[in-house]
Amino acid sequence: MDIYEKIISMAKRRGLLYPSYEIYGGEAGFYDYGPIGILLKNNIENKWREFYVIGERFFEISTPVITPFDVLKASGHVDEFIDEIATCKKCKNVFKVEELKNEKCPVCGGEVEKGKMNLMFETYIGAIKKEKAFLRPETAQGIFVNFPSLYEFFRKKLPFGVVQIGKGFRNEVSPRQGVIRLREFSMAEAEIFFDPSNKKHPRFDEIKDEKLKLVDENDNEYEISVGEAVERNIIGNEALAYYMALTKKFLISIGIDEKRIRFRQHKKEELAHYANECWDAELCSERFGWVECVGIADRSAYDLKAHMKATGVDMRIFKKFDKPKKIRKKVIKPKVAEIGRKYREKAKKIFEAIKNIEIENEIDEIVLEIDGEKIELDKEYFEIEEVEETIAGEKLIPHVIEPSYGIDRIFYFVLEHNYKEIEKEGEKYVILSLPPEIAPIKAGVFPLVNKDGLPEIAREIEKELRENKIMAIYDDRGSIGRRYARMDEIGTPYCVTVDYQTKEDDTVTIRFRDTTEQIRLHRREVPNWIKEKCNL
Ligand code: GLY
Repeated sequence: MDIYEKIISMAKRRGLLYPSYEIYGGEAGFYDYGPIGILLKNNIENKWREFYVIGERFFEISTPVITPFDVLKASGHVDEFIDEIATCKKCKNVFKVEELKNEKCPVCGGEVEKGKMNLMFETYIGAIKKEKAFLRPETAQGIFVNFPSLYEFFRKKLPFGVVQIGKGFRNEVSPRQGVIRLREFSMAEAEIFFDPSNKKHPRFDEIKDEKLKLVDENDNEYEISVGEAVERNIIGNEALAYYMALTKKFLISIGIDEKRIRFRQHKKEELAHYANECWDAELCSERFGWVECVGIADRSAYDLKAHMKATGVDMRIFKKFDKPKKIRKKVIKPKVAEIGRKYREKAKKIFEAIKNIEIENEIDEIVLEIDGEKIELDKEYFEIEEVEETIAGEKLIPHVIEPSYGIDRIFYFVLEHNYKEIEKEGEKYVILSLPPEIAPIKAGVFPLVNKDGLPEIAREIEKELRENKIMAIYDDRGSIGRRYARMDEIGTPYCVTVDYQTKEDDTVTIRFRDTTEQIRLHRREVPNWIKEKCNL
């Protein structure tokens, strides 16, 4: 068994992960979190909130998974969120084109037929109208379409950040990498809105000396401070670099091995349709090699501009100048009499529509749509005038920097990077060395023997821990060694054992998972001791 197989087998045995719909033969690209797994996943997500909501002062929102066609048409996903696929004419297996070997089927060597596939899952809203919709491919769009309300919420001050943790869906062609490539997955995304002329980060000084391992778009490798990477223009701006450093800190805090983190820049042809620069935080796996787990992208004004164009809703911010500026600008002057004579009762609406047109150069024709009718006005009906105007500021579409985390992959890597196998009395013994803060169960509570009142005391202690909001589990099944082993395997950092001495002086032993060292504490001290160690 390789590391992945060992972890998946342990995860199933211990209630972390179950293959979805297994009794029906399973469904590739879907995994269930079991009772222990969901505790660990929640702890990872809550740690992420600690970084992005508490630490960065962002706010979290929650928006629907089902997304109308028009939203994803505007965002570019309908036309661009596509994989090139190849279907084997002989064995009928389907692959991504990049998986082919010499343009032949990698399974049977047969001829293939190429095509394209949109990765979104389609659905419909409502029974009668059958409005086409999709399961969202990213949580980000739910944030972008709320920009006008969010800008108000943040008192019209940039930069500000909004986050969302939730499910995303991609109908992967043929996922063959288990939990690494899921069709339904959990994402944690932050969208941070910046003044487009200033992608400096207000807290850059705090992280500028952090070292990152980088691989740029030309495959050059660096071990370099964040500050130097921006100075040398390896990373395009401070904002991107800030969130790369923050990503590294977050990953280390949940137990990812620092030596197995690197940031790789997307090559031009790899960039998503909305990104103009992107760095992936990649984590190294013994089985899969370097795997993308976080994408940190500069999405520029792409999304807000697209939604503004599609809806006509103003997604711009007003940026005041230090002092008012005089400008000369071209304006359209409608010829009132001529328009009135020809268009009569529609004339008023035409004047209104013309008022909202902004022009930079001379134009010969204006095309309007009034009450569903197309109206074309040539120079008989308007003239262009240059006027001087004093303006207090300008309207700009904010730029977005987006760190986007794939929670399920990170979950797997937390397991892989903390999975340790040791030999103990001739047997393989597994320890999951999770940071106590992340561990699903904080304490196992055991009676040394199942008699003489020890189980009753142990149950009381477990109850006291739970009353202190500590996830503790009582266990009296099997030998004490077996109970420790079960706890070590799911990463429980501390085991509390009640023995005969407890009856004499109210002390218990606390055993440390990683060292097996034991200390004695008064039972009253145990809840606070665990809270402190687990940062609860
Ligand atoms: N929002 C980033 C992504 O969809 O990968």
